[in-house]
Amino acid sequence: MTTRSWPEMADWYDEKQGETGDLWHRTLLDPALFARVGEVAGRDVLDLACGNGHNTRRLARMGAHVVGVDASEGVIAHCREREEREPLGITYYVSDAARLDMLAGASFDLVVCQMALMDIPDAESAIREVARVLRPSGRLLAMILHPCFEIPEASGWVEEHMGPTTTIWRKVSRYSEPFIGWLHWRVDGGVVFMPSYHRPLSWYVRAFNAARLAITAFDEPRPTEEFLAVRPDGSRFADVPLMCLFEAWKLG
Ligand SMILES: C[S@@+](CC[C@H](N)C(=O)[O-])C[C@H]1O[C@@H](n2cnc3c(N)ncnc32)[C@H](O)[C@@H]1O
Repeated sequence: MTTRSWPEMADWYDEKQGETGDLWHRTLLDPALFARVGEVAGRDVLDLACGNGHNTRRLARMGAHVVGVDASEGVIAHCREREEREPLGITYYVSDAARLDMLAGASFDLVVCQMALMDIPDAESAIREVARVLRPSGRLLAMILHPCFEIPEASGWVEEHMGPTTTIWRKVSRYSEPFIGWLHWRVDGGVVFMPSYHRPLSWYVRAFNAARLAITAFDEPRPTEEFLAVRPDGSRFADVPLMCLFEAWKLG
C-alpha cells in the first residue's frame, strides 16, 4: 500500500486543479460553494486549507481581499508562483488550520474551507480558530466529504442485478464513531492512500455550536449537466451525495 501525506501531493494536486479546478470541482463542488458565496467585493475572505488556490484566486477576481492558508509548503509555493505571474493581491501563509496565530481575531467577513476539515487532524481547534478570526455576523462555508455516505474504507457502491433491474446501493458501516481511515486516490495510473478523519455529522454540529457558529444551511451538492455528460456513472452521485456543505454564522 502506497501512503502519502498532503505535502507529498503538492505538485500532483497543483497540476490536477490548475487554474479552474478539476472536473469534480468545476462541475460539482465549486458551483455549490459559489451559489452560497454571494457578493464578496471589498470583503475580507479567508480561504482555509486553500490547496493550489484555484478558488482563492476566483474569490480575489470577484473583488475580495483574500488570504489563503494551507499546511503544505508545496501547495503554497505553487500559489505564490501563480500570484507572481498574475498578481491578485492575495496573501498566503503556510500554517496548520488549528493554529492561525498570524491572523488577527475578528478580521474576516467570510471563511471558505472547501474539502478540508476531514483532512485536518485537529479539526475542533480549526473550527475554534475560524470562529476567532471571523467578525461577529461573519460566515463560514465548509464543504466536506459527506460523513453519512463517504466513510474511508467503510463505504462503497454495490451494483445489484435483479432480472431487468439494476439497483445501485451505497453501502456504509462504521458511521457513529470518529476514526482515522485511508482514502484512495488515483494518481498517475496507480493508487495512493491518504489519511482521512471520519467524524459523524453530529460531531460537526457539536463543534460548530461549541465555537458559537450557528448553522443556517446544509447543502448536498448535486452533479451538474456538465458532470453528467462526462461521467457515465454520474447519476449515482445525484442519488447519494458524497459531499456536503455547511453554512454557519458567527454569533455576536
Ligand atoms: C482536498 S485538498 C482541498 C484544497 C482546496 N480547498 C480545494 O478545494 O481544492 C485538502 C487541503 O487541506 C490541506 N490541509 C490538510 N491538513 C491541513 C491542516 N492541518 N491545516 C491546513 N491545511 C491542511 C492540504 O494540504 C490540502 O491542500
